Amino acid sequence: MTEDPHMSTADGPMIAAAAARIGEGRLVAFPTETVYGLGADATDPAAVARLYETKGRPQFNPLIAHLPDAGRALDLIEVLPALRSLAEAAWPGPLTVVGPVRPGCPVCDLARAGLATLAVRVPDHPVAHALLEAVGRPVAAPSANLSGHVSATTAEHVRHDFPSEADVMVLDGGAAVRGLESTIVAPDGDGLIVLREGALTREAIAEIIGFEVAVRDRAAGNARPDVPGQLASHYAPAARVLLNCRRPPADAALLAFGPVVPPHRGPSENLSTAGDLSVAAQNLFAALRRLDASGARTIAVMPVPDIGLGAAINDRLRRAAAPR
Ligand code: TXA
Ligand code: MG
Repeated sequence: MTEDPHMSTADGPMIAAAAARIGEGRLVAFPTETVYGLGADATDPAAVARLYETKGRPQFNPLIAHLPDAGRALDLIEVLPALRSLAEAAWPGPLTVVGPVRPGCPVCDLARAGLATLAVRVPDHPVAHALLEAVGRPVAAPSANLSGHVSATTAEHVRHDFPSEADVMVLDGGAAVRGLESTIVAPDGDGLIVLREGALTREAIAEIIGFEVAVRDRAAGNARPDVPGQLASHYAPAARVLLNCRRPPADAALLAFGPVVPPHRGPSENLSTAGDLSVAAQNLFAALRRLDASGARTIAVMPVPDIGLGAAINDRLRRAAAPR
């Protein structure tokens, strides 16, 4: 029998041990509601350097600082009133807020990749919350996957990318319930802009703040050097990815969506047979990892509607399909 992926095995003593590890400048992978994070003490440049190196991440790509509550997160940056209201309504939850860093903010330069701004987030997961409380300092945490690879939504995915317990301790908090990274919102002149679509939909944001927030132009986003996480190729499996396939090539693995699936003999996964976008979001990265492990050289993906969570799902799929 396989274990229930939703079961958390991280208990109080393990969380205390994990916090102590972070305090020693070492790395701990921890669950959040979006994806697993690879955490390090954001105030310790040596710990952050180890994090970049272990993940294979370019040091010009800044990290998100994680805090246990909105008060402590918003203390680190200057925020526009609309962004503050959004954060206070959405946190804990799948939102990351960017703002100019406040004087005295303890997050080190390296974690910010030298930028004058900082991204902060309050995750909605009891294990993450307990860990952040126990550490008592901001925790820098990118998604817990090797740089450029598919994000990790289970402890098993993290272990696959980082097999050494000596390098990375993993807290198992079950499968991530959202399955997609947080939505990143930044100031843009007097207004706001979405830098990365994610688990908090634009519709949900508009409902909270009463107006629509634009998504940064994709082409411009790819050229901007300050947010390399928005690079075209990202979230990529080893296999080539074909988008919007209604007739998958015979030798491809199929990533289906919805109740009507074309006949196919090779490996296949369905993101949601009912066509439910939140179920599809939850399954996306695990399904990509499984199809990749099947050895198929091509993954053919059926169309996913571009509404609600479909926008972020399609964003990740486009990056998975982008030329490397
Ligand atoms: O859901 C999430 O956000 C997960 C969990 C672990 O919290 N974290 C995550 O981190 O997705 P990462 O490092 O994979 O993606 C962070 C993104 C990157 O695209 C980075 O460029 C952007 O946030 N970022 C960080 N600091 C920024 C800043 N000051 N301005 C603009 N973008 C920033
Ligand atoms: Mg990532």
